[in-house]
Amino acid sequence: CVDISKLTKETGLFTYDSGYTATASCKSAITYIDGDKGVLLYRGYPIEQLADKSSFVEVAYLLINGERPSAEQLKAFEAELSAEAGVDESINTLIGSFAKDAHPMAILAASIAQLSAKYHASLDLDDAEQRRQAAVRLIAKVPTLSALIYRHGKGLPANTPDTSLDYVSRFLKQTFESADGKYDLNKDVVKALDLLFILHADHEQNASTSTVRLVGSTGANPYASVAAGVTALWGPAHGGANEAVLKMLEEIGSADNVESAVLKAKDKTSGFRLMGFGHRVYKNFDPRAKVIGEMTKQVLGQLGVQDPLLDVAIKLEQAALQDDYFVARKLYPNVDFYSGIIYKALNIPTEMFTVMFALGRTAGWVSHWLEQQVDPEMKIGRPRQVYTGHDVRDYK
Ligand code: ACO
Repeated sequence: CVDISKLTKETGLFTYDSGYTATASCKSAITYIDGDKGVLLYRGYPIEQLADKSSFVEVAYLLINGERPSAEQLKAFEAELSAEAGVDESINTLIGSFAKDAHPMAILAASIAQLSAKYHASLDLDDAEQRRQAAVRLIAKVPTLSALIYRHGKGLPANTPDTSLDYVSRFLKQTFESADGKYDLNKDVVKALDLLFILHADHEQNASTSTVRLVGSTGANPYASVAAGVTALWGPAHGGANEAVLKMLEEIGSADNVESAVLKAKDKTSGFRLMGFGHRVYKNFDPRAKVIGEMTKQVLGQLGVQDPLLDVAIKLEQAALQDDYFVARKLYPNVDFYSGIIYKALNIPTEMFTVMFALGRTAGWVSHWLEQQVDPEMKIGRPRQVYTGHDVRDYK
C-alpha cells in the first residue's frame, strides 16, 4: 500500500483511478473484508458468528464503540434508543407533503435531512458525547421515519413508536399496527428482520458509506451526511439492487425462463445484468449472501409462505454459478440476491426494500462518521480529475 498523497507532494506523481478500484480513501478499524476468501468481520468478529449469536442493537453498539457491550451497557443502549425513537410533528408534516407514490428513499433522505433542522443548531461537533448522541439519535429515529413513510404510502395515519418494545419489534408494530393499535408480533419475523439488519449494518467503504464520509469531511452535520448516504444507497448498482432483484425475478417469472435470462445477462448489448450478482470486492461468495440464502428457505418455511420466485432465484443462482461467463469474472450472488424474497415474505412492499437496507446501514454510516471526526489524518475529500476538454481559447 503506497501513500500517494506523500508521493504526490514529493514527486508530483498523479494517479487516475476511476471508481476507486485501487485507492483507499481513509484508514478504518471498523470492518474488514477479504474479497478473495469471502471474509467479513465487524470489529474483528466474523459476520457468521454475529448473525448466529448477536442482535442488531448489540452489533450497532459494537460498530460505534469498538467493543461489545456488557449486559448493563446493552440495556442502557436499548433504553437510549427507545427514548430517542420519537419524532416531532414537523416530520409528519414533511412526510405528509409528499405524493403517496413518491419513492420511499426520496422521503427518507428528506426526512433525515429535516432532523438537522431540529438538532444541528445545538450540536457541538467538538464534543465527543454530543457526537455520540447524534449517532444514537439517527439509529433510533430511522426506523420511526421508515414506519411513517410506509404508512404514508399506504394512506394510513401517522402513529408513534411503542417504546416498551425492543428495537425491531417497535419498528414492526409502528409500521403495521391497525387503527386500534393492534399488531401481533411474530417472533420468527422479528428474528428474521433483526438478522437482515445485522447483515446490512456495515460494509466498509462502499458507495454510500464513502458518500457519508465525503460529506462528513466538509464539516457537514451527521444528519446531512447520512441523508447523502441514503441517496447514494438508492442506486440499483448499490442498495437499490434488492428492489431490482425482485423486479427481475418477477420479469423472469418461471424457472423455465432462467436460461434465456442468463444468456441476456451475458450479452453486453442487452443492457441487462443479473441483479444481485457481482461485487467490487468479493471475488468469492459474499458471506452475507450465504447466510441470507439459507435463511430465506428457513423463514419462508416458518411463515408458511410458498413463493414461486424462490424457485426462480435458486435456479438462476445455480445456472449462473455453472456458467463460464460468471465463473471467469468471479461473479457470485451478493447480499441483495435473496434479501428481497425475505422482505416480500415479511409483507414489506418492494419499494420499501432499500429503506430496510438503509435502516440497518445507518449503524455503519454513523460509526464511520464518528471515526472520521477523530481521525488526525482526516482531510476534506477532494478527488482530482484528468482534464479532457479544450485547450485555452479566446472568447470572440
Ligand atoms: N451481470 C452480468 N455481468 C456482470 C455483472 C452482472 N450482475 N456484474 C458484473 N458483470 C460483468 C461486467 O459486464 C464486466 O464484464 P467485462 O469484464 O467483460 O467487461 C465484469 O463483470 C466486471 O464488472 P464491473 O462492472 O467492471 O464490476 P464493478 O466492480 O465495477 O461492479 C457491481 C460491481 C456494480 C456490483 C456489478 O457487479 C453489478 O452491476 N452488479 C449488479 C447490481 C448489484 O447486484 N449491485 C449490488 C452490489 S452489493 C451492494 O451494493 C449491496
